[in-house]
Amino acid sequence: MYLTKEEERMLEGGESYAVQKSMEILVALSKIYKAERLVKVRSVQVAGVSYRNLGDAGLEYLNELAKDGRVRVTTTLNPAGMDLEAWKKMGISEEFARKQEAVINAFRKMGIEISCTCTPFLVGNLPLYGEHVAWSESSAVTYVNSVIGAKTNREGGPSALAAALTGRTPLYGLHLEEERKPDVHVKVKTKLKYSSDWGALGYCVGKRVQNMIPYITGVEHASLENLKALAASIVTYGSKPLFHIEGITPESEKYEKPKERIEIEEKDIRNAYKQMSDEIETPDFISLGCPHSSIEEIAEIAKLLERRRIKRGIKFWVVTARSTKKRSDELGYTQTIENAGGKIFCDTCMVVAPLRGKFKSMLTNSAKACYYCRSWMRVKLASLKNCVEAAVE
Ligand code: F3S
Repeated sequence: MYLTKEEERMLEGGESYAVQKSMEILVALSKIYKAERLVKVRSVQVAGVSYRNLGDAGLEYLNELAKDGRVRVTTTLNPAGMDLEAWKKMGISEEFARKQEAVINAFRKMGIEISCTCTPFLVGNLPLYGEHVAWSESSAVTYVNSVIGAKTNREGGPSALAAALTGRTPLYGLHLEEERKPDVHVKVKTKLKYSSDWGALGYCVGKRVQNMIPYITGVEHASLENLKALAASIVTYGSKPLFHIEGITPESEKYEKPKERIEIEEKDIRNAYKQMSDEIETPDFISLGCPHSSIEEIAEIAKLLERRRIKRGIKFWVVTARSTKKRSDELGYTQTIENAGGKIFCDTCMVVAPLRGKFKSMLTNSAKACYYCRSWMRVKLASLKNCVEAAVE
């Protein structure tokens, strides 16, 4: 593969240990994926932040890199295993908290923004159309590729970190124009009302197109929240991390509808809700914010909870980015949600926090959370409104 003089120097150890290790990773990946060269990236988003997933081996690796590694581009972090301030209220153990803090300190030392969110595009890491980035959280990767038209593969934690420390990533896959063409036309023949319906659409499409890029038609309007729900779900259930929607996503104008066509009807959406759900009479956990809640979603939750009370025996959690919670505090939404008996947690989520065994059944508006939490508790998908209604007395 071709390396510039500067990249060769990085690979030979002319800069630092962390840069050399990172270049070794990027060159190895380039060989595997047959990338001819590296491309400079505008920003990076690093996943693999929860100590629950990293363990001591992961922490050791981060500490090694943090000795002399410093990021070269805007770099943000995915959620960690706990709210970095209110971890005790989540029931996190002291031992886990100390390890998680050590992980965060290693990232901080490297110059990474401790944003701890899977919606970095809502809190300042917002690429432009056509820019190359290296992101690793699957829902965020799908969102920036599809909705913004930036270009990224679905990076692993170590390869994203390597991109942050060198400012580069291998040029292959979704970084190339020819790899972004849609493969299959998905005609939606029903109205989608709630973001959870969009999650159900992602389930239907992901399952049926498996590792292809869909070109979706039949949708007239989509909010940011709808698109973030679709992005999280479609990639969880099987698509490549890119979709095009006629008249809505920016690259849709470039392409013709593919010949191969599938249809999604109302019955498919209803069936998807059933397929993703278990029978639950009364959940002990209601969790909203996968991907992390926008301020509009928090406003909606607060409005629904005004002068109401959450039933005893139900934990009601909203998860979001810390900067979004600050806005929620200022606008009075946090107070309304807490007055009703709910909580807003930051920096983490129901999937990456060590919650196994703490709850038996969860009601959520997230198709992605259903997938990941189903391995250890009963789950049910419902609209945001129905989740709140099920929570209150
Ligand atoms: Fe975000 Fe956690 Fe869902 S990282 S997309 S809230 S699984």
